[in-house]
Amino acid sequence: MKPPNDNPSSGSFSLESSRPKVPTRILCVEDNDGDFRLFQLHLGDSPLKPRPSLQRARTLSEAAELISSASDQSGPFDLIVLDLSLPDSAGPATYFRLRNLAPETAIVILSGTTDHELSLEMVQHGAQDYLPKDTLSGDLLGRSLLYALERQRVRMGMKKLNDQLQRTTCELQTTQMHLIQAEKLESLGRLAAGVAHEVKNPLGVLQMGVDYFSNKTATLGGNAELILANMQEAITRADTIIHDMLDFSRSDQLKMNLCNVNELMGSSLRMVHHELLKNKITIIKTLATNLPNVRVDGAKLEQVLINIIMNAAQAMPSGGPLLVSTFSAEFSESSHDEGSRDLERLRSGDEVIVLEVRDHGSGIPEEILPRIFEPFFTTKPTGEGTGLGLAVARRIVELHRGRLQMTNMTSPTGVRARIVLQPDFSLSPQAAPSIPQAEVPTVQFI
Ligand SMILES: Nc1ncnc2c1ncn2[C@@H]1O[C@H](COP(=O)(O)OP(=O)(O)O)[C@@H](O)[C@H]1O
Ligand SMILES: [Mg+2]
Repeated sequence: MKPPNDNPSSGSFSLESSRPKVPTRILCVEDNDGDFRLFQLHLGDSPLKPRPSLQRARTLSEAAELISSASDQSGPFDLIVLDLSLPDSAGPATYFRLRNLAPETAIVILSGTTDHELSLEMVQHGAQDYLPKDTLSGDLLGRSLLYALERQRVRMGMKKLNDQLQRTTCELQTTQMHLIQAEKLESLGRLAAGVAHEVKNPLGVLQMGVDYFSNKTATLGGNAELILANMQEAITRADTIIHDMLDFSRSDQLKMNLCNVNELMGSSLRMVHHELLKNKITIIKTLATNLPNVRVDGAKLEQVLINIIMNAAQAMPSGGPLLVSTFSAEFSESSHDEGSRDLERLRSGDEVIVLEVRDHGSGIPEEILPRIFEPFFTTKPTGEGTGLGLAVARRIVELHRGRLQMTNMTSPTGVRARIVLQPDFSLSPQAAPSIPQAEVPTVQFI
């Protein structure tokens, strides 16, 4: 390509390679008939080949209509030549309005004798060029329009690259966040394991002491029995926390078996039956039949379900319905999976088995939603919550290459917890090419 001649007044020019193969589509926005005819004439004289196709608008609103119908039919105009003084708009506003209407189109200002400065200002705001009406010639016009087209093409290319760059930066930041989160959890896991081991032995000694004195309450007298009961409660609680901490830090101790998800749901509910009864919680079950088995550590999965069910029960202090369901579905990503470690395993559209628990509490406040999986994050008073339930639950589910999704629901409010697992067709006794759907509609209230 020959270097473009940058001097607009230098007569003939050559931009062969920039010349479009199809006619350039130009919209001339000009209310003055004389000026428009002159423009038309110079355009005819210009060396633009093939001959451009030209449309005219006399007002800004007419231009808006033409731009919109052109976009719908054959795509945006290639070029708009604009007079800034129109019957329905004047001055810089005319340019800015038109720029908004046609962001992808090159705009060249047709400038009268009095508004050269203004036209130059518009060029500084993104107009591709300005053409003084009084000194217009075919050559100058052709050259200016070709350069305008070329500059706009480069500008749009840069914009595309910039958008791509921004998207990539965004993705990079998200990946970095996941890595930092995973790193944080990893070190927390190691720390938790260390602390748990250290505390386990002294706790054992305390337990032996309590056992020893429990047989001697009669001789000890006073409040010995009550004090010992309190001590026992404290030891049990500390022991539970240590177990949770160890669960959180252990990562390779799964005993995998083929399990039926409905049986897992049933056994978990039986284990917390008493608590649910006490809290006036009614269970509404919708369990799909004929689901393929899953290959999981049944005891660990029960632990996950119990954590979730207990959270749900605690979220409904005055009782109410708790909906539990199992079904097959197509996997879809949840925005609250952030920090999930096994992001590459499940893809949107994969067939999955879902165990769902839906409560009717007040939901999780949006501001704490990103933190609920953090170890030791709790909104419950000391003694009631350790903040390890969901951290452990997520860790276990991820070890199964599944997902734990917690979603706030509206009308009625509450939380929908989903354990999403991959079915094991290959090893399942009920191996099936595709997952049978739930026989009954999953959950009535959602
Ligand atoms: N079903 C739920 N409804 C409302 N909030 C919930 C629910 N499940 C979890 N949460 C919130 O997530 C926090 C962390 O839960 P979890 O890790 O189980 O710890 P804990 O139950 O010991 O507080 C809870 O303190 C609570 O604020
Ligand atoms: Mg909990």
